[in-house]
Amino acid sequence: MTLARKNILLGVTGGVAAYKSAILVRHLLDETANVQVVFTPSAHEFITATTLQALSGRPVRDDLWDRQAEAAMGHIELARWADLVVVAPATAHFMACLAQGLAPNLLTTLCLATDAPIVLAPAMNQAMWRAPATQRNAAILAGDGRRLIGPDEGDQACGDTGPGRMVEPEELLCAVRQILAPPCMKGLKVLVTAGPTQEALDPVRYLSNQSSGKQGYAIAQAAAAAGAQTTLISGPCHLPAPTNVERIQVVSAQDMHDAVLSRAADQALVVGVAAVADYRPAQQAEQKIKKGAQGAAQIPLEPNQDIIAAVAALPTPPIVVGFAAETERPLQQARAKRQRKGIDAIVVNDVANPRIGFNSNHNAATLIWEGGEVELPYQSKESLAAALIQHLTERFFAQETSRG
Ligand code: PMT
Repeated sequence: MTLARKNILLGVTGGVAAYKSAILVRHLLDETANVQVVFTPSAHEFITATTLQALSGRPVRDDLWDRQAEAAMGHIELARWADLVVVAPATAHFMACLAQGLAPNLLTTLCLATDAPIVLAPAMNQAMWRAPATQRNAAILAGDGRRLIGPDEGDQACGDTGPGRMVEPEELLCAVRQILAPPCMKGLKVLVTAGPTQEALDPVRYLSNQSSGKQGYAIAQAAAAAGAQTTLISGPCHLPAPTNVERIQVVSAQDMHDAVLSRAADQALVVGVAAVADYRPAQQAEQKIKKGAQGAAQIPLEPNQDIIAAVAALPTPPIVVGFAAETERPLQQARAKRQRKGIDAIVVNDVANPRIGFNSNHNAATLIWEGGEVELPYQSKESLAAALIQHLTERFFAQETSRG
């Protein structure tokens, strides 16, 4: 358990998203962390202390002047107890107090008194989030080293649409893990493929797909952040190269195959996120095909080689993880695909869902390996990438990295 025995102080302020903090408590306890919930006075308007007390197994603290509670663990002791403070939801008012160093209640006082890292999950109406004062406060807090996660964009409880929704508890859990138990891939070589491939038909036309590269780039970034020496083999897309990642740009599936296979043997991990064309035009015309030319309405195709299956078939293969983009019966299809390709694990995403998958900023997936599966719920592609790297490190590299 990555968060075992870590002390997490969960601050809840007065916002509709307070119900999500109850789910976060459950996730933290599942990882056997110790959770102490602290309410601001207005948090009581949105969720009951009884609920969070029952979930966390500890009385909720909400009063700086409660002599009985202070006698058990005073607010300074509580501030020292915390390995991490998470404030979710964090209202505009709470952010303003913290940015200015004001301490009108127990939670703000604890935040001033603690040396622990502080994570904030802003949640408010979109106009309040966009207000210049809130943006100023957010910048001050980020400058002070507070980590702001979100907000997300979308429909709001007040009927507005825009930025201001609190991120999902799973995204916060991922941030907590990143801070308290960062995955370690130091000394490992990781290769990631990303983006689409383009299969030329003639000098101006090609067959391709809608992959933006976002998910693959995020995974390369997360691997590099975990200390891996990371190579990204990227099909054509419009994203900047991630920091500390060697990027090699390719166009066709054949180019990607050659770039991957020439480097695969000395990698510890290969993650195939690219949407590689299964077929290419059997012939590439040297000149632009004219409208009405004989045979112009037919495109004979021939298959491309399967890149990750070829890597898995090497004499001493790295750990190979594929992605499966499915539109029906995703889990069954992906389990079969993993076995067919002979790979160690597969991450399946349902690309029929318009909120996730191709070209969106979010994703939801299931990681499947021999004998186990874990859900990676709806979250940003960056957050899902970090969660995936965490799982792969724990599952396949825990011993190697702990030796180093
Ligand atoms: O790029 P984004 O816009 O962020 O979107 C992300 C994504 C939806 C593209 C990504 O999450 C995803 O699902 N990638 C896999 C897409 C795909 O081609 O899936 P597939 O089920 O057709 O292929 C299965 C696996 O085999 C993949 O790992 C693929 O890289 C690999 N493959 C496929 C064909 C081939 N010739 N060689 C391969 O290695």
